[in-house]
Amino acid sequence: MKPSPWVVKYADNVPAKSKVLDLACGMGRHTRLFIERGCHVTAVDIDTKGVQDLMGNPDCRIIETDLEQSEGWILPLGFDCIVVTNYLYRPMLKHLVKALVPGGILIYQTFMLGNEKFGKPSNPEFLLTADELKETYEHKLEVIAFSQGLSSTPSMTQQICARRSL
Ligand SMILES: C[S@@+](CC[C@H](N)C(=O)[O-])C[C@H]1O[C@@H](n2cnc3c(N)ncnc32)[C@H](O)[C@@H]1O
Repeated sequence: MKPSPWVVKYADNVPAKSKVLDLACGMGRHTRLFIERGCHVTAVDIDTKGVQDLMGNPDCRIIETDLEQSEGWILPLGFDCIVVTNYLYRPMLKHLVKALVPGGILIYQTFMLGNEKFGKPSNPEFLLTADELKETYEHKLEVIAFSQGLSSTPSMTQQICARRSL
């Protein structure tokens, strides 16, 4: 699966050698993108089979953990960039700010209400409400870009790129 165009676009804000956290990394499409760009990536998922081929890569640390258990919320800290795509666990959202260094970049994209017309996910628990990412982060981070609506897949998505103040 190709990297998300939103992530590719805002990856330009993340210089080589940055420490990147890819949460719920799946097959690691964004882990691979940032490794290719010269970054050091921590790839986290409840099931890390999709990134097993990256085991032993000096630029990749793989952590298998359940982000929805309390100990999984204790995220590693000090990231220059956090990327999350196609995953939503609301209690985790506020923890992401603390896991960024000052100046660090959050790139988040996932499905929103309305996606149920096109397929999965259709459970509202896994769908952002209108403006949810903007409202969650606008008082904690500097919003670089935000958008929401119908994408070409077709699906309904919402996406943000935001920076922690220096
Ligand atoms: C739809 S996939 C998205 C994968 C990747 N972010 C991407 O966009 O290609 C959702 C991912 O969330 C992971 N996941 C689901 N529940 C999780 C949990 N409780 N803790 C950690 N990862 C979880 C799944 O294993 C899966 O890899």
